[in-house]
Amino acid sequence: MKTLEDFDFNAQPSIRPQVGALASGGFLTEGRNVVLLGPPGTGKTHLATALGVAAARHGHRVLFATATEWVTRLTDAHRAGRLPQELARLRRYGLIIVDEVGYLPFEQDAANLFFQLVSSRYEHASLILTSNLPFSGWGGVFGDQAVAAAMIDRIVHHADVLTLKGASYRLRGRGIDSLPSIRTTTDQTES
Ligand SMILES: Nc1ncnc2c1ncn2[C@@H]1O[C@H](COP(=O)(O)OP(=O)(O)OP(=O)(O)O)[C@@H](O)[C@H]1O
Ligand SMILES: [Mg+2]
Repeated sequence: MKTLEDFDFNAQPSIRPQVGALASGGFLTEGRNVVLLGPPGTGKTHLATALGVAAARHGHRVLFATATEWVTRLTDAHRAGRLPQELARLRRYGLIIVDEVGYLPFEQDAANLFFQLVSSRYEHASLILTSNLPFSGWGGVFGDQAVAAAMIDRIVHHADVLTLKGASYRLRGRGIDSLPSIRTTTDQTES
């Protein structure tokens, strides 16, 4: 499990103060959110996991899954006619982490279910979301500008937005640029 102690802030110096403040877990008691944005390999999943570990150490209940996995879970609940119960159950978790918003587009139904998750937690319980896309690209992911706008509005109302920058940490020291075509070959060597 990745922790904040493992994170090399020299690679992302601008976010060090914000991450330090978030590590104390204060955002959870206020139901605030965290959004980690940035290109592949810049540490979004690492930091989301590490903040989850910190939250658990502070006694909060934490769940982690990718956006696609969350949608599958919500779809299953919806089909079984127990979406309200599932959303109520999830609200008992102080922190839900949604990794990889943006890599795979959502179907219309999936986007609507994801909106309900965000809406259900709004001003009650925290979310950490990671995305390779800026908010302006989320309309394309959710297939609907209005749903994306309403969702972003709720997420960002009480949120810290951290933007990670630079080249992929996965490609460090390999003497290669972070070209999109390189990713599939480097992924295989990742530990
Ligand atoms: N600043 C850092 N210090 C230490 N390790 C890092 C740092 N940034 C990234 N890493 C490591 O590099 C690898 C890639 O980071 P991570 O998976 O967090 O990237 P990501 O931003 O989630 O990328 P993607 O968008 O492709 O999912 C992981 O093994 C992670 O632990
Ligand atoms: Mg990731």
